[in-house]
Formats: sequence, C-alpha cells, structure tokens
Amino acid sequence: MRNVKRDTTEGLESELPRPVLGPYTAAQIEFAREAWPMRAAEELRSAWIFRALTRAAQRIAMADPWPERFARTTHDEIRHARLCVAVGARLGAPSPRYDMRPVRARLATLADPRVRAASLLLVEVAIGETISMCLFRAGRRAAIEPLSRAALASILRDEARHQRLGWEGLAALWPELGADRRDEIQREAARGLAACERHVAVPALRWLESGRPFDGAYAALGVIDPRERVETFYFAVERLIVPRLTRLGLDGAAAWRDRYVQSREDRHGAFRAVTLVAPTIRSTSDEKLSAMELRTNLGRAHAPT
Ligand SMILES: [Fe+2]
Ligand SMILES: [Fe+2]
Repeated sequence: MRNVKRDTTEGLESELPRPVLGPYTAAQIEFAREAWPMRAAEELRSAWIFRALTRAAQRIAMADPWPERFARTTHDEIRHARLCVAVGARLGAPSPRYDMRPVRARLATLADPRVRAASLLLVEVAIGETISMCLFRAGRRAAIEPLSRAALASILRDEARHQRLGWEGLAALWPELGADRRDEIQREAARGLAACERHVAVPALRWLESGRPFDGAYAALGVIDPRERVETFYFAVERLIVPRLTRLGLDGAAAWRDRYVQSREDRHGAFRAVTLVAPTIRSTSDEKLSAMELRTNLGRAHAPT
C-alpha cells in the first residue's frame, strides 16, 4: 500500500473522461486540484484501516464472509487512492504525501482484537463511511467538470456500499461483545463523533466565520461549498448515524451529546483516540468550544432542524 505513488494512473486511463477546463481560470483550477492529493491520502488511510480490520476479524475468527468482505474493501480503497492521484495528476496537482503515523497511533489504542474490530467498524467504517458517502454525494451533485464529476461518482458508488458493510458488520459482532466491551464501544462512539466533527465540520465552519467568499467554480470542479459541507455533516450525524447507533443497542443521542465529555480513562491519558485521529487539533477542550461556538454563532441557518 505504500507504493500507491509508483503506479498512479496505470489501468485508470480508460475509466476517466478527459478534463474540460476551458470554462475555468488558472486560479480556480489551482484551488480545486489541491483537494485531490488530500483525498488520495484519506483513501489510503481507509485502505490501512480496512487491512487492520481484516486482520482483527481473522484473529477473533469472525465468521465468513466478513474477513473476505473487509479484504475486498481494502482493494476498493486502494483503487480510490489511485483514482484521486490520477485525477490530481491530470489537473496538475502535486503528489500526495502519505503519513500513516496517525493510523498506527489509532491502532495502538486498540490492543484487544475484539475491541479493535468493533471500534474500527463503528468509527471508521459505519460512522466515517456514512459521512464520506454524504460528502461525496454532495460533491458529485454540484460538480460539473466531467473528470471531477466522474471520479467523485465512481468513489461514491463504493462508499455507499462501505457504510452498509460497517453497520452490518457491527450488528454481526455486537452479540459477541460483553457489557465491558459495549461500554468501551459507547465511549468510542462519542470520541469518534468528536473527531469527525473536528475533521469535517470545523474547517468549514472556520471558513464561514472568516467571511471568505466561496467561488461557485470550485463546486463545479468538485470542491464542496463550506456551507453545504456543514449542512451535510450535521445531517449525516443527526439524521443517519445517531438513529442507527441507537438501533444497534448503543445510546446514539448520548454519544453525540457527550462527544466532548472526557471519560475517566481519557483524563488519565489511557485513551487518546480522539486526538490521535485528528493530530492537528491542539486540545479537546479548545475544539469543543470552537465547534460548538462556531455553529452557534453562525446561527440556525447552518444547523439541521
Ligand atoms: Fe474510499
Ligand atoms: Fe470507503
């Protein structure tokens, strides 16, 4: 997986239409293309997560076809990473930089293979892929430029399947988790939601707060309008994820409400998953304030009803 850079566009040429960049200025293209190396790095991160999930599922002897389905998804994610590299290259973007240290750090917090499998299924697959599906759908909906739109549509098809796999896999594993592990997974749900909010919503909220205008051409080139990004994130969490968590047997509303409430283990530094997932964040309390204040300050227009 480390070698994604080596064969970036091999086999993908026939899959992708030619870019049509005539309607856009050089500055607009330059802005929009920067997203592709970042998307490539996210997709490779997903591939590593699915590989770790496959191994954890094998270790706990999760019944077929689960380990095989997780392994197949690893290959989907590698394809997505290659696709993003290929699109970025065609638009003149620099090569992605892959930093797998946050993934290693995240996995280091999940020593017990059953907790590891459940937690990865919950946070990265069920929650993460549901948000990802909604974001790709929003990006594809507004994209007009053919290459960008085709690549987003291609990834979206798989992400819709991946999030289903997360919810179904977690439901399959749930009966095997005892009370202690279920409590741990409840805390993981809260930490995961906080990490996703900081990673997905906070940068968009900051953009909106700054008053910086968003050029409609960026959306035509596949970049999600920050207002749409915020709406999409909170829609995904409040309308899709929270009810699904509750149906599964977790307390979805409490996980969302208490996402910045540190558990005793967190305070003692035994679990630092949230900060490890989003290593650029300074501190949990700062981000709690910024996410909530930004959303409040920006008013109900940005909050889902
Ligand atoms: Fe993906
Ligand atoms: Fe995915």
